[in-house]
Amino acid sequence: MDNPSEPTPVRVGVLGASSIARRRTLPAMRDLPEVTIVAIASRDPQKAEQFADDFDCAPVHGYERLLDRDDIDAVYVSVPNALHHLWARRFLECGTHVLAEKPLTTRAADTAELARLAAERGLVLRENITFVHHGMHRRVAELLAAGRIGRLRHIDASFCFPPLPASDVRYRPELGGGALLDAGIYPVRLAQYFLGDDLSVAGAVLRDDPETGVDVAGSALLVAAAGETVTLTFGFEHGYGARYTLWGSTGRLAVDRAFTPPATLSPLLRIDEQDHAEEIVLPAEHQFASSVASFAEAVRRAQDTGADPGHAAWAATTLRTAELLDRIAGSATRVTSGKRP
Ligand SMILES: NC(=O)c1ccc[n+]([C@@H]2O[C@H](COP(=O)([O-])OP(=O)(O)OC[C@H]3O[C@@H](n4cnc5c(N)ncnc54)[C@H](OP(=O)(O)O)[C@@H]3O)[C@@H](O)[C@H]2O)c1
Repeated sequence: MDNPSEPTPVRVGVLGASSIARRRTLPAMRDLPEVTIVAIASRDPQKAEQFADDFDCAPVHGYERLLDRDDIDAVYVSVPNALHHLWARRFLECGTHVLAEKPLTTRAADTAELARLAAERGLVLRENITFVHHGMHRRVAELLAAGRIGRLRHIDASFCFPPLPASDVRYRPELGGGALLDAGIYPVRLAQYFLGDDLSVAGAVLRDDPETGVDVAGSALLVAAAGETVTLTFGFEHGYGARYTLWGSTGRLAVDRAFTPPATLSPLLRIDEQDHAEEIVLPAEHQFASSVASFAEAVRRAQDTGADPGHAAWAATTLRTAELLDRIAGSATRVTSGKRP
């Protein structure tokens, strides 16, 4: 018998049998009482069947057919970047809440359009940037606010990893590939997390790969309203690294495995001062589960009240991220990958 004190789970349809859905998001959804995976849509019927078996839901052949279902409250969009805008818009137009993979779209104008549409319809729209849900960054923010490294002067953040298989969607410009949208978005959002949305782009470099036509690496310099600076580096032609350092007036605070830590990893936070070094081990957390739970909570509130109270704050930050990414792409000095003589 249903327990009346337990809220009804949010019924989710999945669009795209993607790698990230299989590895991270769907296992998290399957274990969360707040959501039920109802159906998975793939262009490939066999993939749909396989995912449906693995996640105990209905297979759907073709994305259009997921739109036709009347038994889903929300959709999880995890198709290539350039398709997020189209499919998020179509589901919002049908009255479905949307959790879309990052980046929400490939242009700030498209992000603004989706945010407006969601607000008009009283629907929840979220971009699945999961690291902001991990408690390690809240702990860093608390230490910063307590003056542990003095006044914040500079942030240095990077997200880099080795080359991917040649068939990866990240090498397809027409699908919204490239390192800036895929990896650069993390340090940009990190800068917003600690310095707020009032950031501007002071300079950028993107390295383009002439063979595929996507940027495979880059760096940028951002400046905050109060004069703090941010250097950020991203790419997929490097050794793996996902880390940041906050430089304060009296010390430094550094975090490794900052953006996509496994759910079992206890993050290590290091503080360095003139005559003191300290390491703090923080609890492991499943940031994908937290991101989905936060989305489900927002959906339940919107179902009760007809509006998403968190929309304005979320939309302002997400739109700013998209604008900064646009600005980096538009202003960057372009260099090409090449061999040194
Ligand atoms: N939040 C995170 O930490 C995180 C991590 C990794 C990736 N992501 C994001 O998740 C999304 C998917 O990334 P992924 O690495 O999981 O990619 P992926 O494994 O290549 O999956 C993309 C899926 O999109 C569907 N698709 C639709 N049209 C396609 C086309 N023309 N070409 C190829 N696939 C097409 C395919 O599903 P069907 O064949 O089933 O239709 C495919 O499985 C991206 O937006 C990425 O940025 C987020």
